[in-house]
Amino acid sequence: MATSSATIQAGEVHVWSLSFSDAESDIANLKQLLSDDEQTRAVRFISDCDRIRFTIARGVLRQLLSAYTGHPARSIQLIYGRHGRPALTASQAHDINFNLSHSGEHALFALSRECDVGVDIERIRPYSPAYRLRLAKRFFSELECSAIQGLTASRVEQAFFACWTRKEAYIKVHGRGLSLPLSQFSVSVNPMSAPQLLATPWCPSDLKLTRLWDLAAPRGYRAAIALKTFAGEPEFRLFDWPAKISPGL
Ligand SMILES: CC(C)(COP(=O)(O)OP(=O)(O)OC[C@H]1O[C@@H](n2cnc3c(N)ncnc32)[C@H](O)[C@@H]1OP(=O)(O)O)[C@@H](O)C(=O)NCCC(=O)NCCS
Repeated sequence: MATSSATIQAGEVHVWSLSFSDAESDIANLKQLLSDDEQTRAVRFISDCDRIRFTIARGVLRQLLSAYTGHPARSIQLIYGRHGRPALTASQAHDINFNLSHSGEHALFALSRECDVGVDIERIRPYSPAYRLRLAKRFFSELECSAIQGLTASRVEQAFFACWTRKEAYIKVHGRGLSLPLSQFSVSVNPMSAPQLLATPWCPSDLKLTRLWDLAAPRGYRAAIALKTFAGEPEFRLFDWPAKISPGL
């Protein structure tokens, strides 16, 4: 019988934040936690930086999943949805759902009980507002584009990344990847207000089922989370890896 050392209480969603530089000295230990197929995947990365970050992120993911499910990290089995979303097997999940995202120097891991979760973090790369508007026209919905176009130039960048992270969290909660075109649903783009899902014509009932929140992110990054069918108001508990994972969590 697996015994977990970390618990998600009713109403909680746990979000772990990782800075890759904090984990680099631990990479040999983290690498040993990866499954054979993950180690094969790591070897295929052309860039050393991508290989190191993938290895660290998967190693930390396995440490976290081990703490929450009680199964040894190396023995955790991940299965993949049609569009690549990783999940625990039914026999190991113990109601734990998770998702992760990495960008630049940081990664986020979100874990919830009994409800699907999608998370996204993006490093804000400074480009001109004109370039951002061109990208928005290419990827975002008409509603989102016209909202961003109506902003002063100084607000375009934050609005662009608010929109992007909210949209990515949304497609990730559904496990759809880019099979769900980013233009097929709309989110609010105002970076200063709580995010809202505004239109989901591909699945109208989802407007009531899925909700979005912005997450606190390191300086120079933006992050968002989506929860599907979460009853009530979630309490987000934020942790920095490698805080000790204890029964008090
Ligand atoms: C793959 C995708 C799910 C997320 O990609 P991303 O934002 O580049 O990457 P993230 O770091 O946020 O997420 C990747 C992680 O999500 C998980 N993941 C993979 N496929 C997933 C899916 N279909 N659904 C949910 N999560 C998925 C994996 O754990 C993956 O990391 P790992 O394989 O290293 O463990 C997909 O949405 C994508 O390709 N998005 C890019 C869209 C884009 O270009 N947008 C431009 C807007 S201007």
